Amino acid sequence: MSIQPSENSKIIDIVKVTKIYPPDVMALRDVSFTARRGELIFLTGASGAGKTTLLKLLTCIERPTKGLIEIGGNDINKLNSTAVQKLRQRIGVAYQDFRLLPKQTVFQNIAMAMEVRLKSPREIKQRVNELLEMLSITDKRNNPSGKLSRGEQQRVAIARAAANAPPLLLADEPTGNLDDEATAKVMALFDQLNTQGSTIIIATHDTSIFKDTHHRLLHLQHGQITEK
Ligand SMILES: Nc1ncnc2c1ncn2[C@@H]1O[C@H](COP(=O)(O)OP(=O)(O)OP(=O)(O)O)[C@@H](O)[C@H]1O
Ligand SMILES: [Mg+2]
Repeated sequence: MSIQPSENSKIIDIVKVTKIYPPDVMALRDVSFTARRGELIFLTGASGAGKTTLLKLLTCIERPTKGLIEIGGNDINKLNSTAVQKLRQRIGVAYQDFRLLPKQTVFQNIAMAMEVRLKSPREIKQRVNELLEMLSITDKRNNPSGKLSRGEQQRVAIARAAANAPPLLLADEPTGNLDDEATAKVMALFDQLNTQGSTIIIATHDTSIFKDTHHRLLHLQHGQITEK
């Protein structure tokens, strides 16, 4: 499957998606929205509103109870496990709980995303160093990621998601552990990627990052979505 920019302008199409966690937690209720290539979208909503669930559906970590999800024109619930793996390699995801390998260094954690895409060691080194510099964590480059502060780990997770300048980047509460300065750096990185063509969805309840935005705001409340 390809989610490269040459195709139609819809990158995500979600139609009437409901997600019920057994036995009866209605996390998403009849949610529909379309994301076009090159958009940056803030997905807002209170804790428990369903933001993480929606992002998990986009990477097939969870499956919808009802409804259709297309990425790049393909129904992702029809993909076999090899195709799901390929899809995941093309989506950069910064998880809310980071999901770093704690014993691996910061460099290794970020490099990993590029290694699976068979990038050259030279390109990997250059890109990882650039990201470390942009997010002010160069001094942690060779430290095991498990020994970092939460704010530092969060930036490593974001750098890993951004490493391949993916066509689609999903960031789950990416500034939850960051101070204002680090928040600004992360948002500058997202802006740069978005300008270069990445479609980005940022799930957040940090109003400081979207209060003056000209980008789209989608709001989730009790599992239902509205556009602001
Ligand atoms: N694996 C699960 N099993 C059962 N219920 C779940 C599971 N994951 C999430 N939920 C429930 O689904 C609802 C939506 O959760 P979700 O994690 O998507 O919210 P969120 O908007 O990301 O919240 P937060 O801002 O706290 O991260 C909540 O009521 C939550 O308790
Ligand atoms: Mg969440």
